[in-house]
Order: sequence, then C-alpha cells, then structure tokens
Amino acid sequence: MTARIGIVTVSDRASRGEYEDRGGPAIHEYLKEVLTSPWEPVARVIPDDQAGIEHTLKELCDTEGCCLVITTGGTGPALRDVTPEATEAVSEKMMPGFGELMRKVSLEKVPTAILSRQTAGIRGRALIVNLPGQPKAIRECLDAVFPAIPYCVDLIEGPFLTTNEQRIVAFRPKK
Ligand code: MTE
Repeated sequence: MTARIGIVTVSDRASRGEYEDRGGPAIHEYLKEVLTSPWEPVARVIPDDQAGIEHTLKELCDTEGCCLVITTGGTGPALRDVTPEATEAVSEKMMPGFGELMRKVSLEKVPTAILSRQTAGIRGRALIVNLPGQPKAIRECLDAVFPAIPYCVDLIEGPFLTTNEQRIVAFRPKK
C-alpha cells in the first residue's frame, strides 16, 4: 500500500508567490532520503489563515487519505502565526512529546527555538506534525522525531513505513 504523506507550507508570502517555497521541497527531499517503503506526497502551499489551515488538514487526513501530514511555518508568536491552533482544532488527541523534543534539539542550535509553539496531533488515522518555517529547521526537527513516526503510524492503523537505516532507525518496541 502506497502511503500518502501531506506536505503543507503555511506562509502568506509563499502562497502569494512573493517568495519561492523552500520548506515544502525540503520536507519532500527529507522523506525521499529517509523512507524506503512506497509513498507519495500530497503538497499544499497555503496562507496563515486558521480556517483555511483547518480545511486543508481535514482534506489531507479525511479525503486524501494521508497517514502523516507535515506542516512548516506559522508556529511562532507573530499575529498571523496560527498553525498550532489549527492543528489542535482538528486533532482528536494531542501528541505534545513531538513539540517538546523538537524544541529541545532546536535549542541546541538557536536560542529562538523557544519561540516555536510547534505541536503534533492525531486526526483519525493521520498524524499531523508541525515544523517551524525556517527551512534548515526541517532537517533538525525531523531527525529528532522521525525514529518514533513509523510506530506511531502503526498504532493508528496506517501503512507500515520503513526507513533507510543509514539515516534513521525506526524504533518499534517488541511486543
Ligand atoms: N528551530 C530550529 N531547529 N531552527 C530554527 O532556525 N527558528 C525559530 C524557531 N525554531 C528555528 C527553530 C524561530 S526564529 C521562530 S520565530 C520559531 O521557530 C517559529 O517559526 P515559524 O513561525 O516560522 O514557524
């Protein structure tokens, strides 16, 4: 079964074409490098509007059948930053460990990592994970949390994701 993975860039300026989206392609590249099981991306570039973000997250989880949706951008304190609020609004369960770990590793790189409110949640059979907008944050954050993602997707009855173990070893506790 081909896993579908949502890649959502949340940015007013990227969505208006004022600058090139670098975050979405960085997530795509990361997944190409790390995943060895079949998958396909479902990509979106949308403005920082809470109702619109919620609509896109619901569409990717419920209609497009994504087992994982990774967002980038809109996690900070600026007035238009509402990606975590939208994630929480559409999730049935919050997964706060993702944000905690990503902030911990990001703080080793930049003191402003505390400004990211990034979180994660479960909607149906999909895991939604927020990343900051800074393209270089994408690899830093995904390297930290990716080892736990395949098992999380197993637990929500999604496809069996495998990884290139030279890059990321997926941890599955023995039953
Ligand atoms: N995390 C990592 N790993 N690397 C970064 O450069 N930038 C921070 C933070 N987290 C950063 C990071 C900054 S400056 C901000 S304002 C917040 O993420 C939120 O970014 P966002 O609003 O673009 O999501």
